[in-house]
Amino acid sequence: MKIGTPKELFEGENRVAMTPASAKELQKLGHECVIETKAGVAAGFSDKDYKDAGVEVVKTAAALWKAADVVAKVRVPDDGEMKRLRAEQTLISFFSPVADEAKMQAAAKKGATVIAMEMIPRISRAQKMDALSSMANIAGYRAVIEAGNNFGRFFTGQITAAGKVPPAKVLVVGAGVAGLAAIGTSTSLGAITYAFDVRPEVAEQVESMGAEFVYLDFEEEQADGASSGGYASVSSPEFAAAQLAKFRELAPDIDIVITTALIPNREAPELWTEDMVKSMKPGSVIVDLAAEKGGNCKLTVRDEKIVTDNGVTIIGYTDFPSRMATQASTLYATNIRHLMADLTPEKDGVIDHNMEDDVIRGATIAYAQDVTFPPPPPKVQAIAAQPKAEVKELTPEEKRAAEVAAFKAQTKTQVTLLAVGAAVVLGIGLIPGMPASFMQHFIVFVLSVFIGFQVIWNVAHSLHTPLMAVTNAISSIIILGALIQIGSTSWLITILAALGIFMASVNIFGGFLVTRRMLAMFQKS
Ligand code: NAI
Repeated sequence: MKIGTPKELFEGENRVAMTPASAKELQKLGHECVIETKAGVAAGFSDKDYKDAGVEVVKTAAALWKAADVVAKVRVPDDGEMKRLRAEQTLISFFSPVADEAKMQAAAKKGATVIAMEMIPRISRAQKMDALSSMANIAGYRAVIEAGNNFGRFFTGQITAAGKVPPAKVLVVGAGVAGLAAIGTSTSLGAITYAFDVRPEVAEQVESMGAEFVYLDFEEEQADGASSGGYASVSSPEFAAAQLAKFRELAPDIDIVITTALIPNREAPELWTEDMVKSMKPGSVIVDLAAEKGGNCKLTVRDEKIVTDNGVTIIGYTDFPSRMATQASTLYATNIRHLMADLTPEKDGVIDHNMEDDVIRGATIAYAQDVTFPPPPPKVQAIAAQPKAEVKELTPEEKRAAEVAAFKAQTKTQVTLLAVGAAVVLGIGLIPGMPASFMQHFIVFVLSVFIGFQVIWNVAHSLHTPLMAVTNAISSIIILGALIQIGSTSWLITILAALGIFMASVNIFGGFLVTRRMLAMFQKS
């Protein structure tokens, strides 16, 4: 099949859906690649880069749409592109089935297949194709950079000869993909970072990134993210009021606010009110990532940067990924090529549009002259719902009884193992002509296996690394023993000794390699 990428027509869109690197991967799947001339220039990829990667470069959009069996692009096609879309052609792009419903209907009527990148289910297997996440990650990062660009101070606190600089205080509202990326960027720049989300289960993630989770003094259970597949649901009026009261309290002290709060298929909730903006210090910055859905801040103007009377800058840009076009294109093109890999299971350049596959079915909104939106719920739950474990408080008697039962079960296993070992030893001992020295060694061997098993089995997982150090010591004893035996006249003993040296060496060198990898994880590159 021929996969083609046209130049994006949307004003200011710098991204491109195919990069030279992704084209090489697509060719490995048996496909040919074609691109419209200059399609990648704004993202930093020249026609020559594409030609060097084996991509055919065509002069016009018309030629591209004509040549390609699969058209991969970023933005939903405009009216002109919709006219070019033809029967039997597959279109892969961002394509909102709700906002672009008429286009979806038209594509289905023509007999074209449409895969909407927004609709890739957010399940583990599909993470590599999840363009919403890869773009939100960039948006979160860029939001902090953009805030820094408009903020007159350092993020990190400093004590210099020229004076003391306090660290900036950053509040991130909404800890989804974009929010977590913003938190990571902000903490790595040295700011004191606070974060809030209605889903309490993200508090741990927030804290693990070095930020402080803002807890509300609120009795009612917070919105249950797990029940809606990892997304938030609408908060109760009381909860929303408590949230606003908390933000009102924080506003005068916060230098930078990054809002990313979103509830799927709704306008963004208003969380940063006019009076909060008024209470902020001059020079403070608000970056409203939810501007596209109406904004989390009351005063946000979509696609603009405004400065309020009290000197607060409010940024409502909706094109952050496009502002980092090289990075965004690389990630988006990778998402597309992973999708193509799923569509080409045999790697033979033939597309198998398997509507039984959760991911392909979920993202397909037009197929075989039918509108296939909305898809049935995926068989696999979206983001792993945290099962609410029923934790029953045990009475002291019940606890004691449970401990006794566990002890009895363990003792039973140990006695059984010992009995089996004794039976094996006895059985071997009864073999006629068996030398006494063999029996002696064999008993030591059986006891070592038993004790070794018991020791390792009862060590907690977190202590397996120190345990590895001990097994390294045991391995060296094994090697010493094997070296003594290897000169034996019996070929069987020589082979066993060589095998012993080999196995113990695997343990020793493997231990060193694992330790090296673990240490590398703590090294700053
Ligand atoms: P997401 O759906 O993964 O995360 C949204 C988060 O907001 C969730 O964690 C949710 O629990 C939280 N939330 C919902 N209601 C809340 C409330 N009342 N208070 C606090 N938190 C609340 O979305 P994702 O992928 O992280 O994207 C975040 C936003 O960024 C979206 O609005 C998205 O459209 C936008 N975005 C903007 C871009 C730009 O260039 N401006 C580019 C990419 C994404």
